[in-house]
Amino acid sequence: MKLKQTLLLAAITLAANGVVIAAKPVVDAKLKAKVDKIIVESFPAGENQDITRLKQDETLQACNQYRDNVPEKMAAAILERETKTIKHPADGKLMGDWKKGQKYYGMGFAYRIGSVEPDDPKKDRGGNCYACHSADPKEVAYGTIGPGLTGYGKLRGASDDIVKYTYEKIYNAQAFNACSQMPRLGHNGILTPEKIADITAFLVSPESPVNK
Ligand code: HEC
Repeated sequence: MKLKQTLLLAAITLAANGVVIAAKPVVDAKLKAKVDKIIVESFPAGENQDITRLKQDETLQACNQYRDNVPEKMAAAILERETKTIKHPADGKLMGDWKKGQKYYGMGFAYRIGSVEPDDPKKDRGGNCYACHSADPKEVAYGTIGPGLTGYGKLRGASDDIVKYTYEKIYNAQAFNACSQMPRLGHNGILTPEKIADITAFLVSPESPVNK
């Protein structure tokens, strides 16, 4: 009997929390100002420190405020706004060189701030994709925050639609999933359109080790 009651209570609590999560979170302006101040002070500007990106844009602010669970209308507005940011390479080719893409997929440094030796903002940048996704089956060190991408092109083919989707997803993940955990690598200027086309080829091309 007691166990039943406890379970029931747990179910009610869960349901109630569900309602709270969906409601508009209350923002304590004073607390927010304090947190913003601490963040700015923790990453001082200085040589090689590009801290301009600490400032949240409208999309990031909304996702953080709603803990990634934005109301439907807001999600639609985010998708529309983020889609508009997507740029293609000057030559219009969304499939580049998979060998270069292999390098940029795995390059996990550049653009770090606040570390002991921050990276030169002008240093060649990679996408650090293995932090969240598998790809080349020979690479055993990868994170699992994102879905595994080994065999990506083998599974989906290399149609124009797949190439376009893959390129644009990498350019701005939040044009497809309002509060994606995946960084907006093109939009944030971490990867150039050309590098994104190279990484697209690494994922899609039948020649790439991803699809062997
Ligand atoms: C911080 C983790 C993270 C990083 C870094 C990251 N991603 Fe993702 N990615 C995700 C998550 C989570 C998803 C699934 C949710 C979504 O679609 O937004 C995803 C989804 C994707 C998808 C869509 C997969 C599908 O089934 O349609 C592709 C393609 C992709 N990522 C490629 C990349 C590439 C290429 C890079 C590096 C340039 C990269 N990601 C970097 C987290 C990450």
